[in-house]
Formats: sequence, C-alpha cells, structure tokens
Amino acid sequence: MKILIIGASGTIGKEIIKLTQDSGNQIITASRSGEPALNIDDPKSIENYFEKVSELDAIICVAGNASFGKLTELSDNQIQLGLTSKLLGQVNLVRKGLKKLNNKGLIILTGGMLAYAPWPETSNIAMVNAGIEGFVRAAALELEGNRRLVIIHPPLVAETATAMGMDSNPWPSARKVAETYLKTLTNHSNGVPVFVEGYLPQ
Ligand SMILES: NC(=O)c1ccc[n+]([C@@H]2O[C@H](COP(=O)([O-])OP(=O)(O)OC[C@H]3O[C@@H](n4cnc5c(N)ncnc54)[C@H](OP(=O)(O)O)[C@@H]3O)[C@@H](O)[C@H]2O)c1
Repeated sequence: MKILIIGASGTIGKEIIKLTQDSGNQIITASRSGEPALNIDDPKSIENYFEKVSELDAIICVAGNASFGKLTELSDNQIQLGLTSKLLGQVNLVRKGLKKLNNKGLIILTGGMLAYAPWPETSNIAMVNAGIEGFVRAAALELEGNRRLVIIHPPLVAETATAMGMDSNPWPSARKVAETYLKTLTNHSNGVPVFVEGYLPQ
C-alpha cells in the first residue's frame, strides 16, 4: 500500500513507520518540518501539499495539538489551538485528502481515550477528541466507493507518561498503540472509533 503518515516523527508515528515499513508498504511521511512541509493547522498548507502528491491507498494522521489545563484557567488561545489544530486540522485533512485517496482507500484519524474517560484538566482535549469522532461517524456515511474513515482513540502512551513524569506501568507502549493502526489498515472498520486492545473504555 502507498501510505501517507502525518506526524511520522512523533512518539506514535515513529512506531507506525517501523511496522508499516516492515510490512513492505510504500511510506510517505509529512509534518511541519518535512519537505514539502504540511501544517494541518493551515487549510492552504494541506491543499498545497495534496497538489504535490499522487494517488494514495491510505492516509494516517498522528498529528494535531490541543492543550491540557484547568477549565477556569484555559486561555482563549489554548481553546482555539485544539479546535484549529487537532480538530479542524484533521477535518480539513479528510476534506482535501479525499481527492487523492483511491476508491478503496482509508483515512485514519487520531483522537484519544480522554473522549471517553476524561481526567480533571482535560476538558479541552476531551471536547476535541469527541468532536473528531462525531465528524468521522457522519462523514463516513458520505464516502464514495469502498473508502473508509476511522478514528483511533489511544490511551496515554507509556513513553509519553514517562516524559510527563507519570507512572508508565498502566499504559501501552507506542509500539502496541501502533499495532492498532496497522491492524486497522487491513480490517473492514468504517465510521467507528477503534481502541487499543486491552484499553477499551469502561
Ligand atoms: N502520546 C500520547 O500519549 C497520546 C495519547 C492519546 C492521543 N494522542 C494523540 O496522538 C497524536 C500524536 O501524539 P504523539 O504523542 O505521537 O505526538 P508527538 O510525539 O508530539 O509528535 C507529533 C508529530 O506530529 C507532527 N505535527 C505536530 N503538529 C503538526 C501540524 N500542525 N501539522 C503537521 N504535523 C504536525 C510533529 O512533527 P513536526 O513538529 O515536524 O510538525 C510530530 O511528527 C496527537 O494527536 C495526540 O493528541 C497521543
């Protein structure tokens, strides 16, 4: 498969790259620091990027920013970041990426478990993750051909927990999370949320 991976240099993205390369796929990586650059926060950047890309079998997005923060302390800019980057960024990626997705192609977006199991100080991220899922459920109903659109909701990743100074033991490795993306590439799920095995919402 010819797969575009956005956010390939990130914690989850790096592991998806290893697994998809192992499986003999053709991988194209993209991010703000790539060449050509792709900034999902900017609709024009997405449009310019897809003008340079030929037909794809799959697009995986493991990029998009949103801020943690107390409800009473989140700034307008922090709220806007989640909407502009992680939510609208992925919505626009689908809108513009569909033009280069083949008839049996798949787009995988990334939300996060906080949509289902929020913690204090995650209202902004939980809102964005739930919003992406709503978009995926409805947009999938309009896809032409045998195209698919799916959202994966990873739990906190062990490596990220460590980087945040938290206990990593309860959480899956980035490799295990990446395996969920790999499985989703070849199953038949469409318009639904997908969870990492062993980390279904309670
Ligand atoms: N890690 C976790 O525990 C966890 C848990 C649940 C959900 N998630 C979600 O999973 C996604 C990836 O997380 P991660 O921890 O792997 O991220 P990460 O390590 O911070 O890496 C982010 C990746 O995305 C790219 N990127 C960031 N902003 C971008 C933009 N506006 N346009 C294009 N590319 C952009 C970065 O490259 P450049 O800097 O070059 O652009 C980098 O490759 C995020 O949406 C995150 O919310 C993560």
